[in-house]
Amino acid sequence: MIELAPSILSADFAHLADAVERATAGGASVIHVDIMDGHFVPNLTIGPLVVKSLRRTTRLPLDCHLMIENADQYIPDFADAGADWISVHQEACQHLNRVLNHIKDHGCRAGVVINPATPVETLSEVLDLVDYVLVMSVNPGFGGQKFIPGVLHKITRLTEMRAAHGYRYRIEVDGGVAMETVGEVVRAGAEILVAGSAVFGKGDAKTNAQALLEAARSASMQRV
Ligand code: DX5
Ligand code: ZN
Repeated sequence: MIELAPSILSADFAHLADAVERATAGGASVIHVDIMDGHFVPNLTIGPLVVKSLRRTTRLPLDCHLMIENADQYIPDFADAGADWISVHQEACQHLNRVLNHIKDHGCRAGVVINPATPVETLSEVLDLVDYVLVMSVNPGFGGQKFIPGVLHKITRLTEMRAAHGYRYRIEVDGGVAMETVGEVVRAGAEILVAGSAVFGKGDAKTNAQALLEAARSASMQRV
């Protein structure tokens, strides 16, 4: 099943509830929340307080993408704030197995994220553990960057590894997903599509979300 997860990073933070409402009206079924600490990535965004406020605006799952160091330390705060899904970067976790289990122990779905330069093989020992794998198609830190097509083979590889081993994770893609790129992303095997500027950048979020989902669904019919 294809799902659209709008990233609120590109929304107007003074009107987050409206942004979430418009995107939901357009068919979004997950809300992607980008958490940045100014250390792991060169930008600062939001923390558990905003997640807690968002929680009151929507029933959709909140997908918290942690681009932070010491993620383990903050898992309880995000879980208490109402996060449903929490993902952590392979590159940022010294004890990845521990952190992923910690997320699950807090009742959340656990995801692992890889940067464009990180091979999927680095995940081989956690793929049986995770609920989803997030493939970054830009270097994390900012919205509105250009999609890196070189990551597409990693999405396909993840579908093959899942089939070969009987794993159950879903595959999410984040960065530069827009009308021009969504087709190839879906044909490669992605199921959860994060889109920030393509939803909240220009025009109306509802119309943008609808168009993206329609393009994604028609591309999913062309999967080999
Ligand atoms: C990038 C973030 C993304 C970002 C995507 O570091 O993880 O979620 O908001 O924005 P777009 O869709 O504009 O590339
Ligand atoms: Zn993200």
